[in-house]
Amino acid sequence: MNLLLYGAPGSGKGTQANMLCSHFDIPHIATGDMLRAEIEAGSPLGQKAQPILAAGQYVSDDIMIAMIGNRLRLPDCSRGFIIDGFPRTIPQAVALDNLMEELGRRFDRVLYLKVDLDELLQRLSGRLVCPQCQRTYPPGTALCGAEGSALVQREDDKAEAVRPRIEIYLHKTIPVLDHYRGEGLVSEIDGMGTIDDISRHVLEAVSTSQLAQGGALGAGFARPGAPRGDVPPQGEVRPPSGRGGGAQPAKSA
Ligand code: AP5
Ligand code: MG
Repeated sequence: MNLLLYGAPGSGKGTQANMLCSHFDIPHIATGDMLRAEIEAGSPLGQKAQPILAAGQYVSDDIMIAMIGNRLRLPDCSRGFIIDGFPRTIPQAVALDNLMEELGRRFDRVLYLKVDLDELLQRLSGRLVCPQCQRTYPPGTALCGAEGSALVQREDDKAEAVRPRIEIYLHKTIPVLDHYRGEGLVSEIDGMGTIDDISRHVLEAVSTSQLAQGGALGAGFARPGAPRGDVPPQGEVRPPSGRGGGAQPAKSA
């Protein structure tokens, strides 16, 4: 099972990835978590990435493509994986296509969590994370359920970084959806309900795609020509045309 979680900052990618990771017993590969681990370790990459994340900008495509390539080649990915946070640009999507082909794999589903802008801002301003395992928690939670550590606010959840994160997502990452729509892989999930309701819809979308492919395909190896249960796009926010647009027209992302 190879899944790609897609959505704006705060849309619930990490939350739903934790559920999928337990459900399918496959690794959760989150490029934001990997970068934060490098920052925590004080590595050369971490030192380079720290100011970029703090400002809500994107790390360069070259660095991110190398990072995901190294990660997907590790043995724990042999039964499948859940990618969260990659690809965020068209060059990253093209590189991931090439990598998947090289690995003899394809995505079973791209799960797009669609959430209103006001809700995103509210979730990000209140979000707490475990500094050790990076699990996310809603406001009011004191300790990490897995590590027992005191929870902290993420540096890029401070007000000054949140708007740039959403703007760069609308401008550079929303167009990546069309790349996967063209392949009939996108399931659009209403990300506005309770976490449990959304988890149910996510699992339904995955099982619908398995049925459409004629049953579970194990590690998700390619079976050319299999029909796909695609969900058509419905009124999502488009990136502003031309250069340097903003998030102003967005109601949801
Ligand atoms: P990354 O860590 O991927 O951040 P993000 O995309 O901004 O997404 P978040 O992790 O903030 O949100 P999420 O969707 O996971 O939501 P969550 O489940 O936590 O990337 C960070 C940075 O790294 C980027 O800005 C960039 O600088 C860099 N980077 C990473 N990948 C890169 C790449 N490929 N290229 C270039 N740069 C890259 O939920 C949010 C909160 O809401 C939580 O508190 C949660 O408990 C709560 N919540 C979740 N679901 C619900 C619900 N249904 N109802 C109410 N609350 C909910
Ligand atoms: Mg996340």
